[in-house]
Amino acid sequence: MASALKEKTKLISTTEEWAALAKHVADIDQTHLRDLIQDPERCAKMVIEADGVYCDFARQRATDETMSKLYDLARAAGVKEKINAMFNGEHINNTEDRAVLHVATRAPKDKVINVDGRNVVPDVHDVLEKIKDFSDRVRNGEWIGETGKPLTDVVAIGIGGSFLGPLFVHTSLRTNPEAAEQARGRQLRFLANVDPVDVARSLNGLDPETTLVIVVSKTFTTAETMLNARTVRTWIKASLGENAVKKHMVAISTNLKLVEEFGIDPDNAFAFWDWVGGRYSVCSAVGMLPLSLQYGYETMEQFLQGAWAMDQHFANAPFEKNLPVTLGMLSLWNVSFLGCPARAILPYTQALAKLAPHIQQVAMESNGKGVSKEGLPLDYETGEIDFGEPGTNGQHSFYQLIHQGRTIPCDFIGIVKSQQSVYLKGEIVSNHDELMCNFFAQADALAVGKSAIELRAESCPDALIPHKTFTGNRPSLSILLPELNAFTTGQLLSLYEHRVAVQGFVWGVNSFDQWGVELGKVLATRVRTAMNTKRTKGEIMSPSDGFNPSTTSMLNRYLAGKAKLIYPEPKDVFPCDLIEGDECRPPTSYV
Ligand code: F6P
Repeated sequence: MASALKEKTKLISTTEEWAALAKHVADIDQTHLRDLIQDPERCAKMVIEADGVYCDFARQRATDETMSKLYDLARAAGVKEKINAMFNGEHINNTEDRAVLHVATRAPKDKVINVDGRNVVPDVHDVLEKIKDFSDRVRNGEWIGETGKPLTDVVAIGIGGSFLGPLFVHTSLRTNPEAAEQARGRQLRFLANVDPVDVARSLNGLDPETTLVIVVSKTFTTAETMLNARTVRTWIKASLGENAVKKHMVAISTNLKLVEEFGIDPDNAFAFWDWVGGRYSVCSAVGMLPLSLQYGYETMEQFLQGAWAMDQHFANAPFEKNLPVTLGMLSLWNVSFLGCPARAILPYTQALAKLAPHIQQVAMESNGKGVSKEGLPLDYETGEIDFGEPGTNGQHSFYQLIHQGRTIPCDFIGIVKSQQSVYLKGEIVSNHDELMCNFFAQADALAVGKSAIELRAESCPDALIPHKTFTGNRPSLSILLPELNAFTTGQLLSLYEHRVAVQGFVWGVNSFDQWGVELGKVLATRVRTAMNTKRTKGEIMSPSDGFNPSTTSMLNRYLAGKAKLIYPEPKDVFPCDLIEGDECRPPTSYV
């Protein structure tokens, strides 16, 4: 019994397959990407295409042998069985005893996906029908506000997974010509941070009469979202009266009881389910409602279809031709064997500016874990530090470190047909070609580098040779999409989601819980209570309040500073009352 448990809980690092890869690092250290990239046979093999998503990973520090060892490791970790368990609705999120079925949120109507013996696909489509009906009515002016005006502006209040995914998709679509046409005359804004500055920016210039507010919260208990929701509810009521809430506020949540208690009509609540993780929820009502309001339901249906196409590829393609599996295993190779703790996500389109922030949550909240699913401390690092910016902006910022400082595997993402075409007479390439020239060049600069010999041949002064040398051998992969539209945005989303799952499956962690975010929330509650008590009594913090000396001093400095501020008469004050002028318009990234 004890040995069976030990067998079940043994870490992946104890397997022969892991050891074989660890040993293989020495072989790879004998290679250089500048040579590997010259091998046509290897280059041809290191490409996978799935429904038009073309990925070239020839610039990874890997050979045929590496790939087959990585797939062996995936098999030893039971990746195929784990994928099946996920798609079959098993409770693979063991610490919360939940199924993990974001794939069901994009499943076609005729699919059967059971959770605890119940097919959930009809539930998904009931909510989608409701979203279609509601968004159509708002968009065609049938659903009007308290004063009879159509609701042209939407503010979605939510944080983390209830914000980042929808913001990523919104940013991806807003310059797509077909989607932009659908969005004509409408605005979608997001309010995430509890910072009143974010309230000011997201409400500034909006008229409550024409604004629809969506409160997005899986739990409907997240402190920041609920305070923002109360703030915006007050903003609506102050201008339109008590009754306006039912026409101007709707909610998306798994907790419909709390939605009703908040004062939102349960008929105007859009459900999702505990088997959809927050950071995996963009295909549920969380993304579908605000984005359908902005772009029309038909556009967003294509997004679901794109995600589902990649889901099918993930579930069915053999490992060697499977994009999420291959990319997941290569990331794991970089982190666990080649010692690269970070990953840069570098889309060569401004429309993917919010991909990296979204993947930061998807990947880092999922795989940033210190123990296995069974609770054993890990003897290897998991998760990557994700960051990124669109090219070419990033090139003029942090690429220096990537080229000559630390080794950071990069994901380059390029698009064949730009959302916006500019071609000036007399220029030898179009503006988009110019952008994409950098996409191709950067990957090779990282892989190949530049040697002292080459520099000497260019008559580089000796003193500068060390500074101008590029070691190369820095891994990247390149993803090329035919264009960026709702369908391909869905494919890209699903690709990254499943890649993260593959890594977690092999590392043996639970990629679907997030206990690490809890402690800070508990401590903030303690601070909130203490701050209120001290201010009410006009006292300062003392050591007996239970904070350490450092926090006690900082809190006292803060309270003393606040005490000197003169506030307006006690009344509901909105920061947007306090800012004027164009410079106060929300930054485009939020609009
Ligand atoms: O604090 C982290 C987190 O729990 C995320 O996992 C989640 O996406 C976010 O908070 C928001 O939670 P909710 O949708 O319940 O408001």
